[in-house]
Amino acid sequence: MSRTTWKSKFGFLMAAAGSAIGLGNIVFFPANAYRFGAGAFYLPYLIALILLGLPIIIMELGIGRVFRKGFPSSMNEVAGFKGEMTGWFAILNSSVITMYYITILGWVLGMLIRSFSSLWTQVAVPEFGIEAGTASIGISHFFSIISSPGTVALVFVVWVLNIFCILKGTKTIEKIVKVLVPSMWVFMIIMIVRGLTLPGGFEGMLLLFTPDMSILSSLEVWKGAFSQIFFTLSLGFGIMTTYASYLPKKSDIVNDGLSVTFMNCTFEMIAGIAIFTLLFAFSISPKASTLGMMFFVMPEGIAQFPGVTVQLFGILFFTLLLSAGLTSSMSLLETVASAVIDKFAISRKKALGIIFGVGLSGSIMFSLPFVVDPELNASGTLGLTLLDFFDHWAFGYGLLLTGLVQTILISWIFGAERMRSVLNEYSKWKIGKWFVPLVKFVIPAIITVLLVSGIVGEFSGLYGHSSTGNIDNLHIFALIAWILFTVGGSFILAKMKERRQA
Ligand code: ALA
Repeated sequence: MSRTTWKSKFGFLMAAAGSAIGLGNIVFFPANAYRFGAGAFYLPYLIALILLGLPIIIMELGIGRVFRKGFPSSMNEVAGFKGEMTGWFAILNSSVITMYYITILGWVLGMLIRSFSSLWTQVAVPEFGIEAGTASIGISHFFSIISSPGTVALVFVVWVLNIFCILKGTKTIEKIVKVLVPSMWVFMIIMIVRGLTLPGGFEGMLLLFTPDMSILSSLEVWKGAFSQIFFTLSLGFGIMTTYASYLPKKSDIVNDGLSVTFMNCTFEMIAGIAIFTLLFAFSISPKASTLGMMFFVMPEGIAQFPGVTVQLFGILFFTLLLSAGLTSSMSLLETVASAVIDKFAISRKKALGIIFGVGLSGSIMFSLPFVVDPELNASGTLGLTLLDFFDHWAFGYGLLLTGLVQTILISWIFGAERMRSVLNEYSKWKIGKWFVPLVKFVIPAIITVLLVSGIVGEFSGLYGHSSTGNIDNLHIFALIAWILFTVGGSFILAKMKERRQA
């Protein structure tokens, strides 16, 4: 079976940028920026981008371009069994993230559908919305969606959309991203113009860029910035390797890596400005929680627009979220599909069938509507609580862990100098000798400090959850399930013999 390739460089760039630009840019970034002190977040963010983001994205693209295989098989070329196990760990960990990412997109779809009818005029659950027209609108509709069995149907629809997007691999992906990614820019520009022309909007933008050096001594802020860079650039998932494996052999990946990073980070900055201007103009207190930002805070701001523009901007906002989420989730799924097809030499249809069955079951688990945490009221549904716990491990540790091990294997076993010559082979801008100590020592040291500090912090509480019998058990279940699925699963998959393509 010959490997498909991107029809055009533009198609590849749109696909990679579409993967990078997602919920991470529109909601996680503003929520993190607010949580860690607005303007103060920029400095660690930029340092994380330069020290970690750029070198890792270029390396991930590099191994894809050279080996032209899915992530586990490419990592096998890099470092044999250890490499392949790391590759499968990344795939399984990102499968967990994909499952709940799609559940969140199901909720976004629910809000979008309601935007056409009652979302902006009527509260859905009276106990969460006595004063219609303010924050209660978003909160009450969000709770009504997540605690209703109908949420499963929404998740099903998003899964079908995703499978449709990757049905023919690069062929379908390229067609869809060429429309969705430029549209996302147009939507975002409309949002930013609206935000900046609101009275007080400009001050909101200034707030985002006013530095506050006092918080830079907090390790939490640095961990937040480095995790944000990993997630927003889609690193540690194997996505960039997979997308680069569909590139022609002589591609300039240094240039590609820089272009994707530039598009992603510019979009992120624009999203940050759009959201901060809106919140400042309406004196709305942002939420550090990403779901809160997406489903309560932004609707609260939009609900204060005049007349008919409320519904218009409401629809625009949720369409933007859905499009950005879809171009990211399809890249996550394509990465899993390509890994399975390369290892087991099965047809794309069969691989997608398996992924659909397993993935949909996982997403349904994250949308279970029963309330389990009475202290948190409806936000303590079983699905949402499990989502929070799995996210804590898969996002908070899994991505960084993949980044650490892959960087060590590439720089020490494959060879940092060899990697540098691979990267420079067809590149206009040559990477200098500084690359070698950076990937051999600096990046592993930084990620190790972040991981160790995170683990030490684990002993000081259950990150925002009440520690009751039920919740403790769920937490232990999530941790054990995550370890068995990722570590156990990757060991078994790496041990299995690769089937030759017919
Ligand atoms: N990079 C993707 C996002 O930001 C996963 O949502």
